[in-house]
Amino acid sequence: VSDPLDFWRPAAAWPGPDRAAIDVWLCPLRAPRPVFETRYAHLDTAERARAVRFHRDVDREAYVLTRGLLRERLAALLALTPSGVPLTASARGKPELAAPSPRWEFNVSHSGDFALVAFAWDRRIGIDLELARQPLDGPALARQFFSLRENRALAAAPGSERTRWFYAIWTRKESFLKATGDGLSFPLDGFSVTPSPAEAPQLLELAGQSAPGERWRMWDLPVPAGYAAALTAEGPRAAEFRGWR
Ligand SMILES: CC(C)(COP(=O)(O)OP(=O)(O)OC[C@H]1O[C@@H](n2cnc3c(N)ncnc32)[C@H](O)[C@@H]1OP(=O)(O)O)[C@@H](O)C(=O)NCCC(=O)NCCS
Repeated sequence: VSDPLDFWRPAAAWPGPDRAAIDVWLCPLRAPRPVFETRYAHLDTAERARAVRFHRDVDREAYVLTRGLLRERLAALLALTPSGVPLTASARGKPELAAPSPRWEFNVSHSGDFALVAFAWDRRIGIDLELARQPLDGPALARQFFSLRENRALAAAPGSERTRWFYAIWTRKESFLKATGDGLSFPLDGFSVTPSPAEAPQLLELAGQSAPGERWRMWDLPVPAGYAAALTAEGPRAAEFRGWR
């Protein structure tokens, strides 16, 4: 098995914006102090105020490093300075570029020691990364958040595989919810994804829509051992998928 980290090419090799590509950046969250300070310097007043409010240092670091990297990468796409990137959020809290702006879409996720930041041109995207520890309350979470179809598949999975199946379903669903931006206000049992980590990730059913897998595309991401991650992008078109770190 090749090292999942081989997928992520060095940042210095990034050739520049490509509207046909989906770029995903893997960001370690245990960064040296100067990196933290540089990223903090990119943040606006509201972002700095939010950074101060975190109770735990690990949460503050994750937020600052991720938001700072997001600003750096958007700056490279838009030819702006990181602190000059006009970030705002939708009514449901999804960070987005203030209009009128070029149609770069993006989404971020952080968990454990890593963050992922993804960019696509003119198609909504969502990304979810999870530290895939065996959940203490897995069955209850599955009943609460997964569809009947997903719960049946999970119950039939081999016991030793169940945690991996749980996170395959979780990250695929969450990446879709984050692509729409609706978060948990979207009816969670109203859609299903392929449940097995061995199966290609795909939206299988979506209330009221036929062939949802053609409207939304999904990918699993080769993240470090012990993590699971998925990405959903709107629209049927294929994309060159590029990973950077
Ligand atoms: C906020 C939410 C979008 C994801 O939260 P999460 O999984 O805890 O955290 P992640 O690290 O993956 O994502 C957080 C990032 O998503 C972005 N985000 C916030 N609201 C968002 C929304 N409505 N849509 C898309 N992205 C959003 C932000 O950039 C945020 O990062 P920040 O706080 O550093 O700015 C929301 O869906 C949520 O609270 N989910 C809870 C998890 C759950 O029960 N999921 C069921 C899965 S089946």
